[in-house]
Amino acid sequence: MLPQIAPSILAADYARFADEVRAVDEAGADMIHVDVMDGHFVPNITFGAGLVKALRPHTKKPLDVHLMISPVDAFIEDFVKAGADILTIHPEAGPHLHRSLQTIAALGIKAGIALNPATPLSVIEPVIEMIDNIMLMTVNPGFGGQSFIEGQLPRIAAVSQMIEQSGRKITLEVDGGIAADTAPKVIAAGANVLVAGTAVFRGGPTAYQANIEALRQAGLKAV
Ligand code: DX5
Ligand code: ZN
Repeated sequence: MLPQIAPSILAADYARFADEVRAVDEAGADMIHVDVMDGHFVPNITFGAGLVKALRPHTKKPLDVHLMISPVDAFIEDFVKAGADILTIHPEAGPHLHRSLQTIAALGIKAGIALNPATPLSVIEPVIEMIDNIMLMTVNPGFGGQSFIEGQLPRIAAVSQMIEQSGRKITLEVDGGIAADTAPKVIAAGANVLVAGTAVFRGGPTAYQANIEALRQAGLKAV
């Protein structure tokens, strides 16, 4: 099956955010990935709920918001009100993961957990009934343009199995270093949503459609 593509606006032109979102939407993006960083949980600062709210009128595609902030709880409602469709949080971003996921669910949107390269997969089991998305980081979070960590591939396969055994409809998203060369490997391992910043936004708006299609078609090369 062909994967869904989630361009990360971390790699967009920050002076033209609305145009960039419309351009990747028209170029075939399945959702828009918004990387929120606080300079504390990760060593970089990006944007907050205000940007999500500002972008909301410019696309009907789901806004896939990746919160790299700690503590996260106080900000969940802001992002939901701003128009996020999926909120994905890191288990390390608060003292009570279960409570944070309850909060997201109570606000009526999809909830996900994001696992850093060294976060044990065992964190998934106690909350698997509460989540709609599992995001496996294939780089350490904080920056775009980093190299894909090959050693994460067996974890993608293991999470894919966990999801299948759960019988639940949970998307398996991968984030970091995804490009036409790495996409077939993650798809073969079971990923079905590919986040890509550099690989989508390189070359500017006239290249977006081909960039997105190249990632999607990588599914056909999956071995
Ligand atoms: C990294 C972010 C990623 C980032 C990926 O912390 O979570 O979403 O935008 O960027 P690329 O695709 O350039 O590796
Ligand atoms: Zn991300």
